[in-house]
Amino acid sequence: MIQTPYYLIDKSKLLINMEKIAHLREASGAKALLALKCFATWGVFDFMADYMDGTTSSSLNEVRLGREKFGKETHAYSVAYADHEIDEVVSHADKIIFNSIGQLTRFAGKADGITRGLRLNPGVSSSTFDLADPARPFSRLGEWDLKKVEPVMEMISGFMIHNNCENGDFALFDEMLGNIEQKFGPLLKTAEWVSLGGGIHFTGEDYPLDIFAERLKRFSGDYGVQVYLEPGEASITRSTTLEVTVLDTLFNGKNLAIVDSSIEAHMLDLLIYRENAKIEPNSGDHRYMICGKSCLAGDIFGEFDFPAKLSIGDRISIQDAAGYTMVKKNWFNGVQMPSIAIRELDGSIRTVREFDYTDFEHSLS
Ligand SMILES: Cc1ncc(COP(=O)(O)O)c(C=O)c1O
Repeated sequence: MIQTPYYLIDKSKLLINMEKIAHLREASGAKALLALKCFATWGVFDFMADYMDGTTSSSLNEVRLGREKFGKETHAYSVAYADHEIDEVVSHADKIIFNSIGQLTRFAGKADGITRGLRLNPGVSSSTFDLADPARPFSRLGEWDLKKVEPVMEMISGFMIHNNCENGDFALFDEMLGNIEQKFGPLLKTAEWVSLGGGIHFTGEDYPLDIFAERLKRFSGDYGVQVYLEPGEASITRSTTLEVTVLDTLFNGKNLAIVDSSIEAHMLDLLIYRENAKIEPNSGDHRYMICGKSCLAGDIFGEFDFPAKLSIGDRISIQDAAGYTMVKKNWFNGVQMPSIAIRELDGSIRTVREFDYTDFEHSLS
């Protein structure tokens, strides 16, 4: 038995998403790039690379990881590049997408050996949470004024537009794309490629994949562009669990179980967005609040139902622990960082990374 806490990536579950992505690419002609901001656990990149076209990034470190560990097509994007990093970014990328006209005009010369693009912001998004809404008022994420973009068109050959967020509703995607066409149609006609970003949950169980493919194909044909998608969450959803062990139980008006992990340290995104973790099947007569072991009073994974009383030493699997989770893990309270294990297609499990005191010590000085 592997010592908890550890993240467990199950390749057979990852494969379900990969096969949907491969089908979509085939049916639509769109290319799919893994968004490393969401998932950068490179131990499974070889496996994923058979089903995807490459990676997209948010920083110098990510673009380098994409180039070195995933290979294939490597897109660079960042909200802002610094002078001292731009040459190295360009050296790792096939294509660079600038966030603003200011960055584009400043660095176009440095990037004249690779394909250049610009991020556009259509001013609407599918997000209902302002923290994650790229179209929030005064958003810094991309240019929106056609008149400003037209004069720099000779410096670029395409655009990136990311305005879907956790969008599992095809009709809403269609509406978003319609908005983009209406707002930026004339610009799109002069482009060679358009990346529609991430945030489209097309690997979800009931998503109408073929209708989505048809819509992408039509968009591609109408504007004469190669379409790209940048799936993060859709690539890895439901593939990974966080395996933890109960360290203590107590009753404080509710049954509490403290586990050898921490939502603050190991599933931070849930805390930021005030969401509960998921435990399956979450049924039975014994309800527990599952709590983390950090000092944060609200370090709570959620309340769940179990078929039997929980005891010290019991193991619990917390579901959906890949996206924006492993990339955000931290050493808060010095809580033991989860190892990373992979379940191969034949069922065997191997640990690919363990963290120890030295990693904690080296994370600061
Ligand atoms: C530009 C861009 N591309 C891709 C993604 C990936 O989004 P998701 O993980 O929701 O698919 C994001 C997420 O914020 C993004 O900002």
